[in-house]
Amino acid sequence: MCGIFGYVGKRNQAAQLIIEALKRLEYRGYDSWGIAVKNKGRLVVDKHAGKIGSAVTILPKSNFGLGHTRWATHGGVTDKNAHPHLDCNGRIAVVHNGIIENYQELKQKLAKSHRYVSETDTELFAHLVEEYKRRYPFVEAVRHAFLDLRGLSAFVIADEEESTLVAVKTGSPLVVGVGNDENAIGSDAYSVFPISRNVCFLEDGKMVSIRKDGAELFDVKSGKKIPLKTKIIDWKEIIPTRGNFPHFMLKEVHEQPRVLRNILINFDERIEYFVREIRKAKKVYFVGCGSAHHGAMIGSYLFAKISGIEIIPVPGSEFAWKEKLIDKDSLTVFLSQSGETIDVVEPLKILKEEKLKTAALVNVFGSTLYRLADQKIWLEAGQEICVLTTKAFTAKLAIFLLSSYGAQGNLDKGKKLLTLAIKECARLLTKQYYRKIERLIDKLYYKEHIYVIGRGVSFPVGLEAALKIKEVSYIHTEGFAAGELKHGVIALIEKGSPCIVFAPKDETYDAMISSAMEVKARGGYIVGVSHKNNEVFDYFFDVADCGEATVIPNSVIGQLLGYCAGVKRGLDPDQPRNLAKSVTVK
Ligand code: AGP
Repeated sequence: MCGIFGYVGKRNQAAQLIIEALKRLEYRGYDSWGIAVKNKGRLVVDKHAGKIGSAVTILPKSNFGLGHTRWATHGGVTDKNAHPHLDCNGRIAVVHNGIIENYQELKQKLAKSHRYVSETDTELFAHLVEEYKRRYPFVEAVRHAFLDLRGLSAFVIADEEESTLVAVKTGSPLVVGVGNDENAIGSDAYSVFPISRNVCFLEDGKMVSIRKDGAELFDVKSGKKIPLKTKIIDWKEIIPTRGNFPHFMLKEVHEQPRVLRNILINFDERIEYFVREIRKAKKVYFVGCGSAHHGAMIGSYLFAKISGIEIIPVPGSEFAWKEKLIDKDSLTVFLSQSGETIDVVEPLKILKEEKLKTAALVNVFGSTLYRLADQKIWLEAGQEICVLTTKAFTAKLAIFLLSSYGAQGNLDKGKKLLTLAIKECARLLTKQYYRKIERLIDKLYYKEHIYVIGRGVSFPVGLEAALKIKEVSYIHTEGFAAGELKHGVIALIEKGSPCIVFAPKDETYDAMISSAMEVKARGGYIVGVSHKNNEVFDYFFDVADCGEATVIPNSVIGQLLGYCAGVKRGLDPDQPRNLAKSVTVK
């Protein structure tokens, strides 16, 4: 992942502009941050392990610089491994988003004549440019160095002898902002908006050099100069605040009734069009990563049960092994909150090259997936700051519920059930209900292992609840298909093992109670999430029956349990360790 940014222009406070841009890009990684500016002809670097938070930079005034916020892939979270990385003489500085897959091989080649400081793959690129500069001018040296690399990467490079910044990419996103006597390059459009809304989204295999008074675009392979086409972007941008909430996660969880109501009232056209496209296709794939994959699984259960339509859910990182099955009669729907997750963006690009039908359900307007997909549904859930997805997740479930009933020709029934679910979510979000969540977490927050079970559509609902608890509390929480328990997993159950049981009022209820009994027989502590209490439950969360829409309030229970456990353990729910809001490396 990582966020990268560069600035050249009339303003003499490059370091300040860059740190503000890095704060906007911190959703892409927050393990460390760093900036380099040029002052009195020398590159000066300021870099630190840890989050930016309210840090200020000590760097001198300058109108030229670059910066980075990191999600560590190669080398631990240390000051030394923080970007920017320099060449042997500290004259070339590099920031990077991506992975150099053949860095060890290239590092070996240069080992005799270059001195390495860090454990990163990135530093190699600074030395490679240094090496090529022995034969080529700066821009050409960057081009030749980039052609030696394998893997998906984006770089911004500075040379203290030059007044230009160069950026080059394949895979990872880069946007150029062309302003009046100032220019910028960033990992997303929002980061360059403070400089200019006149932007160009760099395509793969392109390189750009920016100076104070202009920018030039090149094709990496040929080195040929090509026209730089920009367009004015008028996307509305709201800088979210936490309001009266202690964390963005809780605020975003509480925004769900409003987000779902908007879908209930304003999405008819998009639902009808989505249903039409699904009905036209012979095979339909839902592809997503992490929570988006759990959403894809829930979508496939809802479509199968309600409209008898088969949807094939696929984890984005495993899509490559299904690609061959996709043909002209297929529709592949990519699901993503950020719209930048590389494990869904890359497969979409491949299908587009083969002129196969793609669609996308995305929450970030203007993101790569949103721009590239043939057909797109914008979730309008509003910006998610918390790394954990919540409102964008249930928004997808609402669209799948309405589309399943729409496909069955009974959209009104879907709307009735969604209305019940919205009402029930509002009840679960009361202070009174949260005290129930807290009382349970007081019993469980120190546990090492928690299990979550469900059948049918409640299986992926359980997977998502387990992911929420894991991501924010770091408790090892595992979701299972309840019917699979007795085939091995039940060996993990011992006296006091907490097991969350999703038992909604549907065809799985009786079997779920039996599964709960099986776990209890081994000493398990049963937490029941259901429309009615049952003697097998040691702790009971009442969730009213909303038909198939019950997946939505049940998902909210998982979110609240995760949030509460994380806070109880003194952790930051918004920026959990080792994670990032948008995963842009393979
Ligand atoms: C969810 O809480 C996680 N942050 C993660 O699993 C996420 O769902 C996954 O990385 C996919 O992200 P996307 O929806 O932005 O593509």
